[in-house]
Amino acid sequence: MLFLWNGEARLSETSSVTRTMATVTREANEDDTGVLADLLRRAFRDVAERFDLTAENCPKNLAFCTEQRIKDDLERGVRYYILEEERKICGCIALERAKPDVCYLMRLAVLPGHRGKGHGKMLVHHIFEKARDVGAQRVEIAMISKDRKLKNWYKKLGFLQKGTKRFDHLPFTVAFMYRELSREEGE
Ligand SMILES: CC(C)(COP(=O)(O)OP(=O)(O)OC[C@H]1O[C@@H](n2cnc3c(N)ncnc32)[C@H](O)[C@@H]1OP(=O)(O)O)[C@@H](O)C(=O)NCCC(=O)NCCS
Repeated sequence: MLFLWNGEARLSETSSVTRTMATVTREANEDDTGVLADLLRRAFRDVAERFDLTAENCPKNLAFCTEQRIKDDLERGVRYYILEEERKICGCIALERAKPDVCYLMRLAVLPGHRGKGHGKMLVHHIFEKARDVGAQRVEIAMISKDRKLKNWYKKLGFLQKGTKRFDHLPFTVAFMYRELSREEGE
């Protein structure tokens, strides 16, 4: 059984699953931009394939992420956090403070070979914690509306949908979801 404690994923002694431990090791800095761009491109490849997204019809999709984009993110104050398993970077997530009480959860990615072990959930909970630390009361996300599995996954993490929108520059409908943060709950 996988359980979460202080930002670490651990397997209980009774687990029959291969023992693994992944940790959100640190906040990223300017030395990590190349690694992060590469990670995001690899993690979003299957998303691009599933929704027929190409560099031509959807250059903003993270399957086509450039190092410059990460640099620009860091410059405007987006904070990236890195997930490592056995000292290898296998995931990331980012947080942008949109308003004093609202943070955006962005750039969530776990490499395909590392999925299904609770790492994504741990990254999201890490962001809840960081958002609380800066006094936010709500975390918001934008996602491909048709990605039903992902939407249900976010719902299980307490997100609610607040609407959808079509944008001229995107070949899919965007769904907006939010999660209220209560001070009491200890995620
Ligand atoms: C979404 C993502 C980060 C989840 O990472 P993870 O480490 O596998 O997450 P967890 O192990 O905590 O949770 C696994 C769950 O994710 C679900 N899931 C979420 N999105 C999914 C998708 N698009 N396709 C298949 N399963 C998905 C799985 O069904 C599984 O559900 P279960 O726990 O009920 O079995 C990972 O699938 C990923 O990087 N996807 C590509 C990038 C992406 O879509 N990012 C989000 C952009 S808004």
